[in-house]
Amino acid sequence: MAWQKAAALSELSEGGVIGVHVGATPIALYQLDGVVYATHGICTHAMAILADGFVEDGKIECPLHQALFDIKSGKALSGPATEDLRTFAVKIDGDDVLIDLDVAAASEVTAAPAAPNAGTPASDTARPRGASNGGAASEMQDPAMSAPLSITKHYAWPAEGLSRIPDWVYTDQTIYEREVDKIFHGPTWNFVALECELPKSGDFVRSNVGPTPVVVSRANDGSIHVFENRCAHRAAEFCRELSGNVSEFVCPYHQWSYDLKGNLAGVPFCRGVAGKGGMPADFETAEHGPRRLKVASHRGVVFASYSDQVEPFADYLGPEVLREFEATFDGRPLKLLGHYRHTLPGNWKLYHENLRDPYHATLLHTFLVTFGLLVAGNKSLMLMDPKGRHGVMASAKSDGKSVTADAKKEMRAYKENMTLADPRMMTFFPEFDSPWSVTMSTIWPNLIIQREMNTLGIRHIVPNGPHEFIMKWTMFGFAGDDEEMTRHRLRQGNLMGPAGFLGIEDNEAIKFVQDGMQRVPDKEHLVMLDPAVAAGSSESLISEAAIRAMYQHWRAEMGL
Ligand code: FES
Ligand SMILES: [Fe+2]
Repeated sequence: MAWQKAAALSELSEGGVIGVHVGATPIALYQLDGVVYATHGICTHAMAILADGFVEDGKIECPLHQALFDIKSGKALSGPATEDLRTFAVKIDGDDVLIDLDVAAASEVTAAPAAPNAGTPASDTARPRGASNGGAASEMQDPAMSAPLSITKHYAWPAEGLSRIPDWVYTDQTIYEREVDKIFHGPTWNFVALECELPKSGDFVRSNVGPTPVVVSRANDGSIHVFENRCAHRAAEFCRELSGNVSEFVCPYHQWSYDLKGNLAGVPFCRGVAGKGGMPADFETAEHGPRRLKVASHRGVVFASYSDQVEPFADYLGPEVLREFEATFDGRPLKLLGHYRHTLPGNWKLYHENLRDPYHATLLHTFLVTFGLLVAGNKSLMLMDPKGRHGVMASAKSDGKSVTADAKKEMRAYKENMTLADPRMMTFFPEFDSPWSVTMSTIWPNLIIQREMNTLGIRHIVPNGPHEFIMKWTMFGFAGDDEEMTRHRLRQGNLMGPAGFLGIEDNEAIKFVQDGMQRVPDKEHLVMLDPAVAAGSSESLISEAAIRAMYQHWRAEMGL
């Protein structure tokens, strides 16, 4: 075969990679120090497109399992890839990049000096789905400037900064996998259970840290343990029940057993039968077992972390968010009222954003404004911790009749003649040491604490890929509640949940946003409201400063 055109030189940018096809062969083209290189476009380990990966120090990192290959030689440098990449000879003819599929790289030709400027938009093939044009790392005025250059160039944040969010933040598989690694498995405290769900030794619940399944159990000494729900033998998710009480966990596949602290306790036929078979003589059960996570419990709420470096829980929340946490979990023993769970067709971060977006509240929610839970002009606060990772949306309920005529005009959701068949639904019995009748605390990265008058709930976010998450709700009251108070909490609980009078509209709005990004892709969103507050707490409801603060933190954690 002869030379064939693969791309125009102007489509390449220094330090970048693009994916093209030459005939039916997928090719990855790179430019390093002005020289163009070509490799096969698919990772030798699994069917992943290398052009969606990251280029760094002359290596390409596969986006799927992070195998590394040397770009010039195609050599596989790290597992799980063991087979080298094919390379191809490259030559430059004017603006044409030509490759020869029959000849391995050895004859690269230096590119013409006219490489694109750092800020020049790459071609469509050079950009990931949804990546924005322009916005070189050096133009950004935020902490992400220290991120590795290859990543910031590949997933370029809009040059305008935090007032724009690109779609790829919500739709890209590589970004999602990086979130699992850097955020859910990083130095964060993840909600896993309430202690009242496992009051006795041997009690357990299945839970998740990010998408990763874990078991939360109470051992005989009363201590709480969190470990991965993955058998040390063949990786089976060995704990099958949602909750229960056991003396040990036994994997259904080959009956390996684990104690309540997650230690491997028994291996059937470990020594074989009649002196034959079995595990190697030096096999030690103590060296095998599910990965155990660090655990913190505060006022009956249990958190787990993959990181030994994570700060103490109280420092993680910071004093202001901790104060709101302790206003709800005020020391009274908790009483479990029930669970529900449902799947939402949207990116997991949209739920955090929804609760850092006070702007939508009076515009979307008929129930909220008509019955006076939140109207423009109510005493309210959108509090963020200084790092931008946790937030508390708080407001004080007003009498619905006090809504001014002007405010009603602004709020189409307000329905003048709507009344409740059972007005007890809206009764608020003050019981908390707090000026707020409603607080919605978003604790990064997977927890929402709902205190809406007297209905109390945990919302546990379990991401399932970029386009979907599971929401696990745990409704609770206090052990000292009488029957009437429990009935009241359950009645008021109709506000929330999969079909709650308030919750249903948020669930729908999240789907609409994800649909918009998937069906008209490769764009960005505006989060410009309230420019007087760059990012952080705002006293105005007409503000997106809390969402900007969240992305300031997300970008620092993600190195983007
Ligand atoms: S996979 Fe669990 S015992 Fe074999
Ligand atoms: Fe809402």
